[in-house]
Amino acid sequence: MKCCKHFSECGGCRYQDIPYKEQLVIKETKIKDLANLYKIDTELKAINPSSPEYYRNKMEFSFADQNGLVCGLYSKVERRKVVDVDECLIFSPDLKEILKVIKDFLKTKEHSVYDKYSHQGFLRYLIVRETKFTKEIMIGLVTSSSETLDIKEFVKALTGLKLKATIKSIYQIINDSLSDAVVFDKKELLYGEAFIEERLDDLTFRIGIDTFFQVNPYAIVDFYKKIRDYASLSSDDQVLDLFCGVGSIGMFLARDAKFVWGVEREQAIVDIAWQNAKINKIDNISFFAADSRKFLNTQGAFYKSTDLLVINPPRCGLSAKIIRAILRLEPKNIIYSSCNPDALFRDLEGFLNQYDLAFIEPFDFFPHTPHLEALSFLRRKN
Ligand SMILES: C[S@@+](CC[C@H](N)C(=O)[O-])C[C@H]1O[C@@H](n2cnc3c(N)ncnc32)[C@H](O)[C@@H]1O
Repeated sequence: MKCCKHFSECGGCRYQDIPYKEQLVIKETKIKDLANLYKIDTELKAINPSSPEYYRNKMEFSFADQNGLVCGLYSKVERRKVVDVDECLIFSPDLKEILKVIKDFLKTKEHSVYDKYSHQGFLRYLIVRETKFTKEIMIGLVTSSSETLDIKEFVKALTGLKLKATIKSIYQIINDSLSDAVVFDKKELLYGEAFIEERLDDLTFRIGIDTFFQVNPYAIVDFYKKIRDYASLSSDDQVLDLFCGVGSIGMFLARDAKFVWGVEREQAIVDIAWQNAKINKIDNISFFAADSRKFLNTQGAFYKSTDLLVINPPRCGLSAKIIRAILRLEPKNIIYSSCNPDALFRDLEGFLNQYDLAFIEPFDFFPHTPHLEALSFLRRKN
């Protein structure tokens, strides 16, 4: 892939000037180094590559006033500077048109930019999501409540665009929070559908403006299929899917299993998981809105010796308490996957007295960045 014109400055993807094959070698080496560091002796499978262009399904840009309105990502060379992005080779070819029309509109209306130090001003962030297999776009303008958006004209400007994908949904998120992150307290649907839908293999998934969804749909189809192969379930097998998000791993497994239970902390995400199960007509899956550790401590006895435990936590990985709760559960097999290999290797140590580690397999979910996903498969010792 040629380097994007913002590469020298934009903090988005640091590996773009490294040929893709070399990026894969760097990531495989990282896994080998971690295995050495933690003295973990297991099969290290080859990394699964991904399509390196236009793979991301979500971007979050910041607004800034730098002698005029800019919208983009933070600079890797100058602190606090926002690089005024007008293309992004890892996101979408449609981004150029979308950013241009939004910036032109906001400049014409002379909206102010929110200042995170004085907490004054209107424009904060811009979220753009694009499904890859169904080609649907969702846009979310995050503002404070200090000015009024001309909704009709904003929607007209965007829906008038001729794009490769289709704009299905436009939101304004009103965010007066002092914290420097998007808070979705008040989201107003300005146009279209509340959700966009992605199609992975033969399953459909709903994505809201604030839904966690793995960022690289091309890579996750392969990843979920591999999980299905490795799980090799029979119709008597029961699965517990911790940190299940919108239920995607569980839904990939449900057709082979007797029953799947998913546990996810956020009620809003669980609501979408239920909708996904309904859309896909899967009736052998159920979800709990609960903290995984509390769930295991209070309900664990009902899931004792479950056939398969799937664990896919956030970057921080697992606490010692949750590892102990998992050990008490005594699942027969565990698939533990993480977007933070350091946390994965650290946590694996806690399982190795009672489990054999069959292999570790890296997946390049995030080409042109140093990040990667790593999956591990553990079998309970006799
Ligand atoms: C890396 S995502 C995994 C999502 C899902 N497995 C998938 O493939 O799309 C982690 C999920 O865990 C949820 N989560 C974070 N902390 C949690 C906790 N303590 N208990 C349960 N779920 C939690 C997050 O809301 C998020 O949806």
